[in-house]
Amino acid sequence: MDKIVALCKRRGFLFQSSEIYGGINGFWDYGPMGVELKRNLKNAWWEDMIQAHNDLDVLPGAPEAYSMTGIDSTIIMHPQVWKCSGHYDLFHDMMQSCQHCKKLFRADHVAGLLTESEWVASLKKHVVEFSELKEMVQFEVAELQRWLEKKAKNVAPGLMAIHDVPGFIDRVRTTAAGGSVTAGDLLKLLGSPLGSPLALPCPACGGLLNAPREFNLMFSTYTGALQSEENLAFLRPETAQGIFVNFKNVMDSSRFSLPLGIAQIGKSFRNEITPRNFTFRSREFEQMEIEFFCHPAQSSEWYRYWRDRRMQWYQDLGISKDRLILREHEESELAHYSVGTADIEYAFPFLPKGEFGELEGIAHRGDFDLRSHMEGKLDEKARPLKVQLNENGQPKYRGSGKDLSYRDTITNEKYIPHVIEPSAGADRGTLAFICEAYHEDQAPDENGAMQTRVVMKFHPRLAPIKAAVFPLVKKDGMPELAKVIYLALKKNWVVFYDEKGAVGRRYRRQDEAGTPYCITVDGQTLQDRTVTIRDRDSLEQVRVPMDGIVEEIGRRMRG
Ligand code: GAP
Repeated sequence: MDKIVALCKRRGFLFQSSEIYGGINGFWDYGPMGVELKRNLKNAWWEDMIQAHNDLDVLPGAPEAYSMTGIDSTIIMHPQVWKCSGHYDLFHDMMQSCQHCKKLFRADHVAGLLTESEWVASLKKHVVEFSELKEMVQFEVAELQRWLEKKAKNVAPGLMAIHDVPGFIDRVRTTAAGGSVTAGDLLKLLGSPLGSPLALPCPACGGLLNAPREFNLMFSTYTGALQSEENLAFLRPETAQGIFVNFKNVMDSSRFSLPLGIAQIGKSFRNEITPRNFTFRSREFEQMEIEFFCHPAQSSEWYRYWRDRRMQWYQDLGISKDRLILREHEESELAHYSVGTADIEYAFPFLPKGEFGELEGIAHRGDFDLRSHMEGKLDEKARPLKVQLNENGQPKYRGSGKDLSYRDTITNEKYIPHVIEPSAGADRGTLAFICEAYHEDQAPDENGAMQTRVVMKFHPRLAPIKAAVFPLVKKDGMPELAKVIYLALKKNWVVFYDEKGAVGRRYRRQDEAGTPYCITVDGQTLQDRTVTIRDRDSLEQVRVPMDGIVEEIGRRMRG
């Protein structure tokens, strides 16, 4: 991964945002190569999923013919959108801060950041007072609970804090037989980083972590001049809601009928507690989302169709099957309205061997979203959104009250459509394709000596530069001919002209950028108007007529 990160900076794929000021955590800029790569990925997605979609035939695996279209909605929307979507009340992570160094951690990441020996060492250092437990052989659970509650109130400064006694007691009860637990079992439970009521040590400094608390991930801002609660607004944490709230507009303004997928590509923002792993978890990122609206009776079939189609798409663009998995969520992981969710995961090189990171989620969302935006839910316990007080000062956090159901004009049936949501991250996708493309091999340099070559083997559709054009030497009319070729290709693709330095070195630079084809004008070109095309992966060089070069590159691009 270090080599990939270094190459990204060296060759202009990715830079840390605001780097000259020391950078800002969780934000990344795309350089000249990166911007082309990411744009190519988004274009490939839009072309394959929406633009080139065939709505006249039943595609393999699909229950019937369907339509696809797109929208582009705003980043800031009415705050009620986030109330009804559930993000205002529920979109949070549990976080913990260190009492000593003040660093913040996602609670579910802390145990994974500690080694077992760090945890045990910390336990030994802080939990001296628990040694009295070792004296006892058997504990009554009720007695243990009283003891822990007393301890939780009176933890001396510097000693291990005790969190979530009731949760721990529940876990003890599942181990306890007949209402009591042995000292050995109890110490095992106390000593397990994941199940212990004792605060974990800070992974950064070994200090004591505070109890986990909720932290909403939405960035907030204000609309208008007054920074009052009435003007509170949020940066969208997903593009999906822009599609749901426009469902009626799209249906009313077009001749589409269901099944219909509405797509959107755009920025999303999440105030991640611990952004990390390069662009994998950022605070500002781009999503490519489809909300696919269909009849409830067909939704399970559509779910399977989209899951398999999305999995295949990554492979068609060059991700190896060995580094990609489709992980179906366990039934216990599913939301109550969902019959299935699957994640497409990639073996990113920053993860431990055998682990995968999410690239895209495909979720069966039932009618949850449209229904929430129609009806909302009056949940007395949920905190009211202050901006939504009605004339009596009462919270009115119901939905829009608009009818978002669909009437089938042929059968006359009226229903709230079910939704299948393939939701991909453009930045995570770009990162996966960068990781997948990185190769080192042995190739001869200009003197014939074998050297390690770094080559980015991007699929030609994704490659930032499609072709580079070189005159072999900067004289004898070669640059003039090379420029003619360059300008002809440039009308169709991003191409690069380079006449500086040894040609071998120019090839190497293009290999690192992932340029699939290098075209060289040499002495023979002056005689018979042929040029060489060098293939990045096979290193094969063939001569082709210079006048047919646009068609030749086009043919190769199409595969
Ligand atoms: N509308 C559903 C939704 O947003 P999600 O699983 O939270 O679902 C979908 O996000 C995709 O967006 C993820 O699979 C990932 O590719 C990308 N994504 C989510 N959070 C991200 C982050 N902090 N940084 C980069 N990409 C992220």
